[in-house]
Amino acid sequence: MTRQRIIILVAALAVAVILGLALAPKVDRLVSKSGPDGETGANVESAGKPLVGGPFTLVDQTGKTVTDKDFHGKYMLIYFGFTFCPDVCPTELQAIAGALGQLGDKAAKVQPIFVSVDPDRDTPAVLAKYVKQFDPRLIGLTGSPEQIAAVAKAYRVFYEKVKEKPGEGSGAAEDDYTVDHSSVVYLMGPNGEFLTFFAPGVTPEQMAQKIGSYL
Ligand code: NI
Repeated sequence: MTRQRIIILVAALAVAVILGLALAPKVDRLVSKSGPDGETGANVESAGKPLVGGPFTLVDQTGKTVTDKDFHGKYMLIYFGFTFCPDVCPTELQAIAGALGQLGDKAAKVQPIFVSVDPDRDTPAVLAKYVKQFDPRLIGLTGSPEQIAAVAKAYRVFYEKVKEKPGEGSGAAEDDYTVDHSSVVYLMGPNGEFLTFFAPGVTPEQMAQKIGSYL
């Protein structure tokens, strides 16, 4: 657990650095100021084109193939994780659900999306049961390992299978593993463009306020 938290924090910092570097030539002074709420990336939308996002082809929780274009016209609130995740993913998904609740009617413009980084176990059926625990609007996406690798790369998401207690006991099943992954919520615009992101621990209130400023 501790190891996962450290990796998540490091990965979140890496994303911030990547975004910062991508924008540095245009907004080097703006980026150095963080918002009053301590949220990272508060000013990254000011100028420049961060290298986050892009086309994807995945499978939703009903088994239907979907692409990024299916979500154009809406703001995508997109998070990567896996359904077996003990606490970080549920916490972030609860924050997303809470933010949508606070946005009220305006939430109709926002499509919350959970993308699995564990496609071997997270079948559409598994995702269907999982996402509805958080919010009926939440869409779960999975795909082939190659499709997941491609979308994770596009969104600068790190993930890695980690065997639980390697070499212990005789019952080491094939699916006895966890997945370390970066934990960042992205807000993308109606044309799929990157707008901002939320680091782990963001409150529903902070998220709703920031999203609301774009709607
Ligand atoms: Ni997780």
